[in-house]
Amino acid sequence: MSAAPPAGDVDRTGRAAVVEAARRRTFAVISHPDAGKSTLTEALALHARVIGQAGAVHGKAGRRGTVSDWMDMEKARGISITSAALQFEYRDAVINLLDTPGHADFSEDTYRVLTAVDAAVMLVDAAKGLETQTMKLFAVCKHRGIPIVTVVNKWDRPGKDALELMDEIAERTGLTPTPLTWPVGIAGDFRGVLDRRDGTFRRFTRTAGGATIAPEEQLTAAEATARQGEVWTQAVEEAELLEATGAEHDQESFLGGVTTPVLFASAVSNFGVGALLDTLVDLAPAPTGRPDADGAVRDLAEPFSAFVFKVQSGMDAAHRDRLAYIRICSGVFERGMVVTHGRTGRPFATKYAQQVFGRERESVDVAYPGDVVGLVNASALGVGDTLFTERPVAFPLLTTFAPEHFAVVRSRDTAKHKQFRKGIEQLDSEGVVQVLRSDRRGDGSPVLAVVGPMQFEVATHRMEHEFHAPVALDRLPYNLAMRTDEESLPMIASSGGVEVVRRPSGELLALFPDKWALRILQQRHPRATLEPLVAAQ
Ligand code: G4P
Repeated sequence: MSAAPPAGDVDRTGRAAVVEAARRRTFAVISHPDAGKSTLTEALALHARVIGQAGAVHGKAGRRGTVSDWMDMEKARGISITSAALQFEYRDAVINLLDTPGHADFSEDTYRVLTAVDAAVMLVDAAKGLETQTMKLFAVCKHRGIPIVTVVNKWDRPGKDALELMDEIAERTGLTPTPLTWPVGIAGDFRGVLDRRDGTFRRFTRTAGGATIAPEEQLTAAEATARQGEVWTQAVEEAELLEATGAEHDQESFLGGVTTPVLFASAVSNFGVGALLDTLVDLAPAPTGRPDADGAVRDLAEPFSAFVFKVQSGMDAAHRDRLAYIRICSGVFERGMVVTHGRTGRPFATKYAQQVFGRERESVDVAYPGDVVGLVNASALGVGDTLFTERPVAFPLLTTFAPEHFAVVRSRDTAKHKQFRKGIEQLDSEGVVQVLRSDRRGDGSPVLAVVGPMQFEVATHRMEHEFHAPVALDRLPYNLAMRTDEESLPMIASSGGVEVVRRPSGELLALFPDKWALRILQQRHPRATLEPLVAAQ
């Protein structure tokens, strides 16, 4: 699975970092649940021959072998909560596919993953078009300037009209779709695709359950006319229509977030997957230097630097380990190297570095910009932390999203006070929940804040099973958090039904039951500082 050269043979120069970075394509698939993200991931891995048969890596509970079912909750619900990265070689490129949770309640997690990618694949269900979660994730990509490749999936099933789907993408995302392939046959009668780049026909073949790579048959236009007749002619006419409306791929517009190349696929049959990989290799951007907190770019050739975009623990009950996933930004990473942890200034020895995808783990000896490495036993590392060697750098902190659900958390067993404190601290540093303090609560019980309520379930579950400190949550009647300051406190205190809490950074948040309560306070005290936080939804 690893694309790394053998240890002991490592070129650690800046030049090696630049050359290797140019081969990297680091991306994530964004989609609404059920659009086929797990199926596509499997198909991609299968195509790259990482796994012998689809189902060995990814899937859902009760369906196939599962990728990240290490948590009972995930198994029970059949959802994927955790994220990891899959690396494989394709042609002369190294593909890093970052996994994202499917459920909307964990969108915060998905957003952090999106800070670590250079491109995104927007997966659209042919019958459903753009759905809520697709639109939210798309907005994040747009905000971050991440170029998007669109894949219309499930063309083997009845769905919308292809031209209609293109209109929907243009109207709702503002991106101009530039199809690279065009379907031959309506949704549900998938004959294959017309490759707009060379005018050939790629015939759709079905494989039993998508378990093996479908042989892709390529036919000339003349052969396609002879075999497909009217259906092919219609596809050609539609493709001409696209040409007339200027729906042509232009690399600069794609990278600038103006256009999105589109492919038509049937992930379950592995059709269109090869075309997607080719598109990523040919068109998706390779890693480039990353701006630091002051906006100065850390070039790829500079000494090693990386940031933590995800922390995960409790993956293996027997080992109780804690993994920090880093995205490498510059230089060459070599397992065993000692790096500086930016927040504390302390050295951190990277003795155990792994590639993790679901249950699969493999030691990483060397890695380059664009790669994701899981650092084991990284108890000091928190989400957003920077690591570097030689020349110090601090990358911008990752955004904390506006929480919408709040609950007081108490230990159900007073004898477990220490475990309780440790567990809460850990969940906070992993970004599983945001931990707030309220002066109003005399017993010092923290307030947990989340974007999606299912995060509460994860926290409760982990407190009990991992930290052995069972907790009780009392939900609070707030739905809206606004940033405030010390000067505004007396004004806010005079208003009923509003509570002020403190983030670990010292920042003050005013919690409101709804926007009406906020408006009333704003009308009464126009001088009170009440600023919105970044919304995750
Ligand atoms: P997700 O990760 O985005 O949530 O979606 P997932 O891959 O789990 O796919 C959701 C359902 O859509 C699955 O069916 C899957 O088989 C099906 N699917 C994915 N891609 C295609 C496709 O190209 N064509 C068709 N026809 N179906 C597709 P399921 O009923 O939930 O599971 P299963 O029992 O069919 O495996």
